[in-house]
This record gives sequence, C-alpha cells and structure tokens, in this order.
Amino acid sequence: MADLDPYDIVRLEEGPPPRVVLLDQRRLPDELVEVACGTAAEVAASIRQMVVRGAPAIGIAAAYGYALAALRGDDVDAARAALAASRPTAVNLTWALAQMADDPAPDRARELHRAEVQRCREMSAHAAGLLAPGTRALTHCNAGGLATGGYGTAVGALRTAWERGLLERVLVDETRPLLQGSRLTAWELERAGVPHAVIADSAAASLMAAGEVDCVVTGADRIAANGDTANKIGTYSLAVLALHHGIPLYVVAPTSTVDLETATGGEMPIEERPAAEVTQRFPARNPAFDVTPGALIAAIVTEHGVHRAPYVESLANAHRTLPLGARS
Ligand code: MRU
Repeated sequence: MADLDPYDIVRLEEGPPPRVVLLDQRRLPDELVEVACGTAAEVAASIRQMVVRGAPAIGIAAAYGYALAALRGDDVDAARAALAASRPTAVNLTWALAQMADDPAPDRARELHRAEVQRCREMSAHAAGLLAPGTRALTHCNAGGLATGGYGTAVGALRTAWERGLLERVLVDETRPLLQGSRLTAWELERAGVPHAVIADSAAASLMAAGEVDCVVTGADRIAANGDTANKIGTYSLAVLALHHGIPLYVVAPTSTVDLETATGGEMPIEERPAAEVTQRFPARNPAFDVTPGALIAAIVTEHGVHRAPYVESLANAHRTLPLGARS
C-alpha cells in the first residue's frame, strides 16, 4: 500500500484563506478525516486535543501554525506562546518554534518538515543495523510516520529492518489509554506489509518471559543530556521488564528530541491529561508520559548514528539547534 505523503499528515495551505490542515489521528484507522485550522490558536487546540500527536509531528504542526499567524498578519508572539503551551513534554515543540523565530515563512516550515522526515530515514537506517536476522520486536505507542510527519522513528527503524529482511514480526502494545498502538501503529505496519500482532500492554511481561521478544524499540518525546528519556506512559515499565529479561531497549529519535539543556529526567515536565481519557465515571490519574532512566536504555539512535552510555558524552554533539536542512 502506498506510503502516506508527509503533506497528507500535516500541511500549510496558503489560500486564500490560509490554513493548516491536519489528518485527524483521533479518528484513525476507521476514518480518514482532515481538520482545517484557520488560526494559530486553532492549531494549538488541535495539538492539545491530539488531532495531531507524536513529538516531531507536533513540532511541525506548530511551525506551520506560526507561519499561518505571520501570513494572516496576526500577533506572532501571542501565536508562539499559545503553540508552545499546547503540550509540555515533547521538546520538539519549542525546538521547532525556535527554528522559526527569525523567519516565520511558510517555506521555512516546509523545510523543517522535510528535514525531520529525512532525519527519520537516516536514524532508521542506523537503528535497523542493530537488529539481527529474524528479530521479533516489541514497540509501544506510535512512533511512525503519523507521529513524525512522515516515515517514523521507531516504526521507521522497523520498516527499514523489514525491508532488509531482518525482522520476523512486531508485537504492538495497544498503549492505554488512547490506543496509539492498536489504532495507529498497527495500521501503519499493516499498510507497510510488516507482520504484527497487537497485545494488551500488560501482556508484555509474560511474552518476554516466554522468549517471544528479542528487543524493544520506541520513540521519545524528550531526551535529557544524561540519556533519561520521556516517552509515552508505559515505556518505563517495558524498560524494567526488558532489563529483567536481558532484552535490549532501543530509543530511536531525532536530535530535535534531544534536550541538552535538561540535565536529567527529573527536570522534565510530564503532561497530566484529563481523567476522562482513562474513565468517564470514576476519579482517575492520567500522566501521559514517564521517564526511562538512561541506564535502562541499550542505545539511543539519532540521525547521527548509535549512541551508547555514558550518554552525557555520546549525546554531547547532538545539538538540538541544528540549522534547518542540516544533515548528519
Ligand atoms: O501522546 P502522544 O501520542 O503524542 O505520545 C507520543 C509518544 O509518546 C511517541 O512515542 C513519541 O512522541 C515519539 S514519536 C516519533
């Protein structure tokens, strides 16, 4: 099946009237519906409501939202503040807005989008090199093209490994509470022709114990200088399980996710989302992310290559202020 075009996931139409158009990820895989945002405030609301989600994709959407405000002659400082406040954990959001600060032009946002997809392809090639032939991988949440504006990080690595004949199949955590795994990752793997099976998040331990998992591959929302990594809630549990079973956990993410100004995971803002996403009836807690200590991560793979512990040294050159279009 044809790959989704990056502009099918998120794009800026200059109009008139100008608008940012987002594939509504809340309705996938049952319906392919777009949401059109006429203002940066509407883009910010769509990010908050997870019409578009995934760390690199929300950065790209924010860049387009900022360019939209400039095109319309709106207050760009107010637009930038609204976009930056839409979700707190993924550092790609503030990174992308910083990249746009001195030139909020549509083509600059498009170049940022193109460069993120290119970085995905580069890191996927590096990460696939970690997998032995016949690998049975497990992944969590959705770190595919939907989450990155095209191709994907963890799912990109799995796609590349499949194309190289290294991958046997993928176990896909359903990913409570919003089911990014069973709705989005499974759909992307199906479209790419990669054998896969959705599992309840709580099935991971027994499947590892049964010897059915060779590695865990995830994306990231923010990586501290010491390698501590924020990602979708449940990633930390998988990391502890993987350590217990002697299985490597690989994090695949672009340098736009690496936050060298944050020393450790303890300093990261962790989003707490509405209780109603967990249960409509009872009180609930809904932290959307957790932090996996760098010590539990076998390797962090960026577009520059494979980074191993000590991450303070191996990530030190992963500058998140890469100029637009910079190559590894
Ligand atoms: O709440 P979400 O769906 O935006 O969370 C997304 C994740 O945690 C992804 O794993 C992460 O952003 C990596 S995307 C390449």
